[in-house]
Amino acid sequence: MKSPYTPLVNDLQTACGRGGIVLDYGCGSGKVSRRLLDAGAAAQVVGVDISTDMITLARAQTPQPAARFHTIDSGHVPYPDDTFDAIVCCFVFINVPTREELRAIARELARVLTPTGRLFIVDSNPAATGVPFPTFRSGEPGRGYRDGDERKVSLQIPGTGILELVDRHWFISTYEAVLTEAGFTVDKVTDRGAQTVEDVGSQAPIDHPPFMQITAHLQDHSESTIGAG
Ligand SMILES: C[S@@+](CC[C@H](N)C(=O)[O-])C[C@H]1O[C@@H](n2cnc3c(N)ncnc32)[C@H](O)[C@@H]1O
Repeated sequence: MKSPYTPLVNDLQTACGRGGIVLDYGCGSGKVSRRLLDAGAAAQVVGVDISTDMITLARAQTPQPAARFHTIDSGHVPYPDDTFDAIVCCFVFINVPTREELRAIARELARVLTPTGRLFIVDSNPAATGVPFPTFRSGEPGRGYRDGDERKVSLQIPGTGILELVDRHWFISTYEAVLTEAGFTVDKVTDRGAQTVEDVGSQAPIDHPPFMQITAHLQDHSESTIGAG
């Protein structure tokens, strides 16, 4: 199965060039931060996460001096407005339990992104819920999930076995709504898939890839005032 991080790194490089400062929101152990630095897609990376254990791991596993890591409260990034040329946020929204918290995160990402910056969100694809892939299955086959429902996930960990987790099922339309409310324009969704419970139950799941990526930029003044009278 293809890694979702390869297209992410390529797209970030294409959109932002090299040499910028990138925020890795919900960085976990710092895997994405290291990939961005190794690929030369960022000159500096700041990784933030609500888990102190993850930040300790990220610091221990990341030898590159251009990486910094901080433990944060959800939705608060300890940097001034307009700091980051790009933001990546991988497999975080599926771990956030409420729409209100998603909104707070999106608002904070909008605050710290430069006006010309790009936001990249990668998550498991809600349209592929219940589909068994070689290394994971997110959700139970044949079951319809409502927006915000808990979803059981089975992860195949090499050398360890199956790890069972619970994440959240968010419709793509929810990602789009919270981003738009926070001042973003969504440029691209790689796989729009199902939008309703009925769609999820009736789709041909094999058509949908396991991961989806959303790319967004901040609305400029002319975009946000269109139609405002
Ligand atoms: C599945 S891991 C993904 C880690 C990393 N982004 C990656 O792709 O390897 C999700 C991470 O998001 C963090 N997280 C969950 N909710 C968060 C929030 N509200 N704000 C910041 N980080 C959060 C978790 O602590 C965890 O490290």
